[in-house]
Amino acid sequence: MKVIKVTDQFEGAKVAFDMIQEAMKQDIKTLGLATGSTPEALYKEMVESDVDFSHMTSVNLDEYVGLGADDPQSYHYFMREHLFNKKPFKETFLPNGLATDAKKECERYDAILESHPIDIQILGIGENGHIGFNEPGSSFDGKTSEVNLTESTIEANSRNFSDISEVPTKAYSMGIGSIMQANKIILLAYGTKKAEAIYQTIKGPITELVPASALQVHPDVTIIVDEEAGSKL
Ligand code: F6R
Repeated sequence: MKVIKVTDQFEGAKVAFDMIQEAMKQDIKTLGLATGSTPEALYKEMVESDVDFSHMTSVNLDEYVGLGADDPQSYHYFMREHLFNKKPFKETFLPNGLATDAKKECERYDAILESHPIDIQILGIGENGHIGFNEPGSSFDGKTSEVNLTESTIEANSRNFSDISEVPTKAYSMGIGSIMQANKIILLAYGTKKAEAIYQTIKGPITELVPASALQVHPDVTIIVDEEAGSKL
């Protein structure tokens, strides 16, 4: 794993976007995208650039169960607001939070992943080391599944809702096995709250208790951290 220390998320966004642009010279087709606060600066950088993504496909990591694409708290909405409305892609995929048959929805998403191999996967990380919504204990071989969010994830994500009771307790998430299939992975982490998870991811044992530690065996992972997130390294 390669670790790059940056001063803040804005520099992190530039470094990540440079890597994406470099890869785009090689005729890549599919970006794996994340939501949450971490990639916001990267999406702003992409939006403000003159790079054309209209030949590219995106596949997102996850979506809350129960939220439709027009719900302002949904990840569909987040992606449109932060990226897709301003930078059109050829096609964009996210799990359908309103799908009633979870098994079918997970199979549908796995089929999308099969037919759109991810060239570069952008990841954030949870304070508990989750990637996507693969919480501690998730299988490293996992495919798309309906997951129960942990109390700590619900608590961390409640900052984006008016009340913690409104935070969905389940999500559809791409599995760690599928994330590991990406050709190249860029994980971004900013702030003190991520320091322990980053330390465990890079220096700790490879264990399902720290989902991101699976990345230690991936051949092409870059971890971009600010001073705070990298403070325990
Ligand atoms: C979101 C996702 C999550 C977040 C993580 C960090 O699509 O997959 O793993 O990346 O929860 O969230 P933020 O960036 O809000 O700290």
